[in-house]
Amino acid sequence: MARLVVVSNRIADPRKTAAGGLAVALAEVLNNTGGMWFGWSGKILEQPGESDGDVKLQQAGAVKLATIDLTREDHDAYYLGYSNGVLWPVFHYRLDLADFDAGYIAGYRRVNQLFARKLAPLLKDDDIIWVQDYHLIPLAAELRALGCNQRIGFFLHIPLPPPLILAAIPGHDWLIRALFAYDLAGFQSKADHSHFSEYVRSEAHAQDLGEGRWRAFNRTLQAGAYPIGIDVEEFVGLTEAPEGREMYERMKREYSRRKLLVGVDRLDYSKGLPHRMRAFRELLARNPETHNSATLIQIASPSREDVSAYSDILHELESLCGSINGNFGELDWMPVRYMHRTVARARLPGLYRASRVALVTPLRDGMNLVAKEFIAAQDPENPGVLVLSRFAGAAEQLREALLVNPYDTEGTASAIHLALQMPLEERKTRHQALMKTIQKYDVHWWCASFLDTLAQARSEESGTPWL
Ligand code: ADP
Ligand code: F6P
Repeated sequence: MARLVVVSNRIADPRKTAAGGLAVALAEVLNNTGGMWFGWSGKILEQPGESDGDVKLQQAGAVKLATIDLTREDHDAYYLGYSNGVLWPVFHYRLDLADFDAGYIAGYRRVNQLFARKLAPLLKDDDIIWVQDYHLIPLAAELRALGCNQRIGFFLHIPLPPPLILAAIPGHDWLIRALFAYDLAGFQSKADHSHFSEYVRSEAHAQDLGEGRWRAFNRTLQAGAYPIGIDVEEFVGLTEAPEGREMYERMKREYSRRKLLVGVDRLDYSKGLPHRMRAFRELLARNPETHNSATLIQIASPSREDVSAYSDILHELESLCGSINGNFGELDWMPVRYMHRTVARARLPGLYRASRVALVTPLRDGMNLVAKEFIAAQDPENPGVLVLSRFAGAAEQLREALLVNPYDTEGTASAIHLALQMPLEERKTRHQALMKTIQKYDVHWWCASFLDTLAQARSEESGTPWL
């Protein structure tokens, strides 16, 4: 059987906790399939000109981890600059936050070339290569330029915006052309896939071969939607494991007189945390009966703190939490418990299960795995309610959640109120349907459906270095 080689910027030891959908999902996939995981070590070298060091190899269970370090200059231009200062905001529809510094793209290209140079010698002819996310869009083109003819697939974990927004990126045509070096490009939702189709039809004048196949730049590319899922069985197992149960009991004891609401996110402006807090404040302002009877636990793990938009959102969130507690709190009741940290993965299921409501209200999100984890952790006999942004990719699948527009403070507050009061029978009916969906479209389905398509998809030409 062909070996699976996954390539991503962020990699994680599959045996340890990680925050971020990509690392969590791929750790689960690779634990099952085995193979190699190639990426950045997380280490930054302060001396210039050091990026050309050796690849570090380490066996982690069934997975071989292969990592490289980055110099400060490369890291800042490629990761902070182009990936998270240009692609992340624009792909999340936030043109106002994009920093189109002309120097970033050279760093982005340099690191993609470095990845290709370091990865190519480790590859076998029949490897299946699966490249992940926006940091590495040009990687296949760079590998092809080095003569790699393996099948290469690409999956975008974040949203793809409509062509008019994408076109705000200087060099957007270069990025999309680079996608044609892959044999298969996967997106999180039907909406993202249709944005891609619109773009290649109107901007790249690609020929539509039907069934998601496109011809352009002397290549044929298969594209489609492959919504990512979670390992439901593993998550249910964690819920029932001693640490999961202990956390559940602890939360139930601590909040025995109150209904718990929960939010778990990376601290990212795309997650809509200030909007969420304003909706919660509106709920408290309009519904005095919620005072002393509802508590929101918000856990926000530190993320990309060297990008200024992230420190701005941190201050806004802290100030909102402080003012809600200041205005509504009592001597024996804090409406919001806010923690700026990552929680051990084994403790999340107990927290989810003890919560009556989950607030998953991003302004824009590729998928959002927290929504699916919350569903998996519920007690089917007394489940909680998912309040979900219609702008999360997950909303295309999770139709039985309470869907909200997070920009609409009053509307979101009303939905939270409804969720807190929802009768048991309705909670059960909704939960059953949601559970069925996440079980059917779990992480194994995601992986198998992408890789099965990749096994069939083959561009008619290969090895064309056109970048
Ligand atoms: P993203 O990939 O943008 O971070 P997702 O919701 O898709 O968003 O995935 C986040 C993953 O990281 C989930 O598996 C979630 O449990 C985990 N995670 C997010 N925030 C935290 C946190 N504060 N503590 C622990 N795990 C977290
Ligand atoms: O899931 C989206 C994603 O951007 C991943 O690509 C990334 O690994 C994760 O969020 C966490 O972000 P970062 O790697 O920048 O810490």
